[in-house]
Amino acid sequence: MPTWNVFVTRRIPDAGLDLLRDAGVNFEVNPDDRVLTHEELMAGVSGRDGVLCLLTDVVDEPVLEAARGARVFANYAVGYNNVDVAAATKRGIMVTNTPGVLTETTADMAWALIMATARRIVEGDTLVRAGEFHGWGPMMLLGMDVFGSTLGIVGAGRIGCAVARRAQGFGMKVLYTDSAPNPEISSLNAKRVDLDELLRVSDIVTLHVPLLEETHHLIGRRELALMKKSAILVNTSRGPVVDERALVEALKSGSIAGAGLDVYEDEPQLAPGLADCRNTVLTPHTASATIATRNKMAVMAATNLLAALRGEKPPNLVNPEVLTS
Ligand code: DGY
Repeated sequence: MPTWNVFVTRRIPDAGLDLLRDAGVNFEVNPDDRVLTHEELMAGVSGRDGVLCLLTDVVDEPVLEAARGARVFANYAVGYNNVDVAAATKRGIMVTNTPGVLTETTADMAWALIMATARRIVEGDTLVRAGEFHGWGPMMLLGMDVFGSTLGIVGAGRIGCAVARRAQGFGMKVLYTDSAPNPEISSLNAKRVDLDELLRVSDIVTLHVPLLEETHHLIGRRELALMKKSAILVNTSRGPVVDERALVEALKSGSIAGAGLDVYEDEPQLAPGLADCRNTVLTPHTASATIATRNKMAVMAATNLLAALRGEKPPNLVNPEVLTS
C-alpha cells in the first residue's frame, strides 16, 4: 500500500484525523490554530498527494500550482466558494465538500438568530449584566412577535427546507425563492414568490443561498429598501451575499428593524459601524459549530479524501467532470 502524504490546513476533530491515521496516511496538521497565510498555504500543500482544507483557505491558481501532483482538495465545509473549482478541474484535482451533515445544525442557528434578534436577547443580557435591570418595565426592550409572522426563505435548498420545517411550530406563513418550485418546501405550505415580493412582505428574511457570482450582493441597498421597517434579516449563508455597508446604513437609519448575522462580507473584519448597531446579533461563523456536527464534517472530509487517494470516486465530489477530462 502506498504511503500517502497529506496536509491538513488546521486542526479538525480527531474523528477525521483518526480515519487518516487508521488508513496509514502520513499527514501533517498546521500546528498553529489559525488560518495560514497564502504563502504558508502554498508551502504547506507543496509535494502532497492530498489536502484537507477549510473554508478560510483561499485555494486559487497559485495554491493549486503549488500543490501540483495532488489528487484532491477535501474542503471541510458544505460551501466551497473558497476553491477555484474550474482551475482545480483543469489540473485534474478533485474537490469535495461536506453536504447534509450540517443541515439541521445550521437551521437551528438560523432560528437562534431569528429568536435572539426578534426578542432582543443580547440587548437584554447586556442590560442585566450591567446591573441596569431595575425591575419589570412596560416599555422595556419591546421586540417583535415571531409566532404567526411571515418568514421569507431565500434559497430552498437543504438548509432552507430545514428552516421551513421549524417554522411550522411557530404558525408562520412561509414564502420562499428558488430557481424552480421545490416540492419539499411546498409540502409545508410554503409559497414560491420572487425576491422582491418576498422582501416586501416578510417579517423575517433568512438567507440560504450559496455564494456564486449571481448571489454576490443579492441583498443590497435596493433590496433592503424593499423590506418592511419592522423586518429583520438573518444570514447564515455567506457574508458577501449581503452588501454589508448598505446593511449598516439600513440598520442605522431604521429602514429595517434588525439583523442576525453569522457571516460577514470580509471575515473576520466587520463593515465599519456594524459592531455599533445595537439592533444586531452577531455570531462568529459558528452555525455548524456543535461537537456532533463538526465530528461528522471531519469524518466526511476524511472519507472523501481517502476515496480520492485510493483512486475511487469520493462520495461528495463537486467536480465530477474531473474524472472524464
Ligand atoms: C459550511 O460548511 O459551508 C459552513 O459555513 C461551515 O460552518
